Amino acid sequence: SLDTKIKVAVLTVSDRASLPDSDPDYDKSGPAIQELLADNPAFSFTYHAIVPDDISSIQDAVKKWVNDGVDWIVTTGGTGFSPRDRTPEAITPLLSRLAPGLVHLLVSSSLKYTMMAALSRPVAGTIARSSINGSDENSESLVGRETLVVTLPGSMKAVRENLTVLLDSGVIVHAVELMK
Ligand code: MTE
Repeated sequence: SLDTKIKVAVLTVSDRASLPDSDPDYDKSGPAIQELLADNPAFSFTYHAIVPDDISSIQDAVKKWVNDGVDWIVTTGGTGFSPRDRTPEAITPLLSRLAPGLVHLLVSSSLKYTMMAALSRPVAGTIARSSINGSDENSESLVGRETLVVTLPGSMKAVRENLTVLLDSGVIVHAVELMK
């Protein structure tokens, strides 16, 4: 049933894609993530937003989805060395528990495609609902629940390569099962 599916939200982090007059087709990676997940019956897609490379814009979207009970937040973009890339800096202070193993998996599998994978600075981990929210505001059923967050690079190629390993290996499904 829908209830048992893993609720996924996708955050595109891009100054250019977030401009009000930007071509809606400019963001290719957000829709690519949705498409890859649509093929997998374990997941149900919930939200997609596009925000600029700005720490509070990134954090506001993530916090809202954590409060909404999203199981897995996938971000795309802003993980590199450009002056505006700050997705890891936005996500890291929100994390309750780090998941360096997922980071290793992303980087080591990506290095098989390109050495430039070393220039992504991904972070992964869980965010406890209670950590970003006054604990009395939490409904009973959400107490203790956590949201998994994984940051992917911005290119569609990188998104495809990273999501393939996360989905084909089964690590995301197993992680979310363990968090219940
Ligand atoms: N990872 C995979 N799997 N495939 C890729 O093509 N590109 C790299 C890297 N990670 C790439 C990848 C490149 S060229 C950059 S600059 C960084 O991701 C950072 O991307 P971002 O700034 O768009 O997040």
